[in-house]
Amino acid sequence: MKLICVSDEHEIGLETARLIASVVRLKPEAVLGLATGSSPIGAYAELARMCAEENLDFSDVRTVNLDEYVGLDGSHPQSYRYFMHKYLFDKVNIDPKNTYVPDGFAEDPDEECDLYDELLESLGYADLQLLGIGVNGHIGFNEPADFFIPETHVVKIAESTIDANQRFFDTRDEVPRYAITIGIKGILCAERIVLIASGRKKAEALKAACFGPVTPKMPASILQVHPNVTVIADDEAFSLVPFFGHDEEAY
Ligand code: F6R
Repeated sequence: MKLICVSDEHEIGLETARLIASVVRLKPEAVLGLATGSSPIGAYAELARMCAEENLDFSDVRTVNLDEYVGLDGSHPQSYRYFMHKYLFDKVNIDPKNTYVPDGFAEDPDEECDLYDELLESLGYADLQLLGIGVNGHIGFNEPADFFIPETHVVKIAESTIDANQRFFDTRDEVPRYAITIGIKGILCAERIVLIASGRKKAEALKAACFGPVTPKMPASILQVHPNVTVIADDEAFSLVPFFGHDEEAY
C-alpha cells in the first residue's frame, strides 16, 4: 500500500482527481469504479473543473458505481444514481449511456446483482477503483461480517452505517435498510485502487484497514492483498498510523 498524507479534505480532492485524470488521459476509454458519500465530492468537483478548463475528456470513459440503496429509484435525491449526476455526470462530457449504477429499484434485486457482475466482467473491471471507508471499515456496502462475499449482492446495511448515513435523510427511519453492493471480487479485480478518508472519525478504521489483520470483520483490510492500492487521507484520518500520527507505541 502507498500512503499519502495531505493536510485536509480539499487536498484529498485535488490529489485524487489528479490520479483519476492521469488514468483517463493515458486511456481515454478507461473504466472508472466510482463511489458516493462525502469523501469523493472534492475529487469530482476538481474533475469537473479539469474537464471545463483543461480538456480532460470523458467522452469515451465508462463508469461503474459501487453500490445503490434498494428501494430508491435513480430520480430519488438520496439515490446514488442521483448523487452521481449531481456531482459528476452532469458536470463532465460523459455519455450517460456509459455510466452504470446498480438499479436499486429493480423488480428482482438478486437478478440485478447477477447482471451487474456480468457487466463488470464484460467491461474488464475498473482501471481505477475509488473507495471511501465507513467508520466500521466497510468498502462499498461490504459490511463487517463472518466472511467476505465475492459477488455483487444485496446486503442488510449495518446499524452504524444507518447512523452515519442518517445525515442525508430527514429521519433515521427514511434510511433504506438494504443496498446492492459490488462484492470483494469486483473491488479487488480493479487494476488500481484509491482509498480516500478524512477526519478523526475514520482513524480507527483506517489504521485497522492498513495495519490490522486481514479479516471480514474489517472489510477494508482485504485491500492489503491487492498489489496496487493508494490511500490518500488527511492528518486526522491518519492520526493513529505510526508514520503520520502519534501511536508509535502500538507498533
Ligand atoms: C459509497 C460507499 C461507501 C462510502 C463510505 C464512506 O458509495 O460505497 O462505502 O464510501 O460509507 O462514506 P463517506 O465518504 O460519506 O464518509
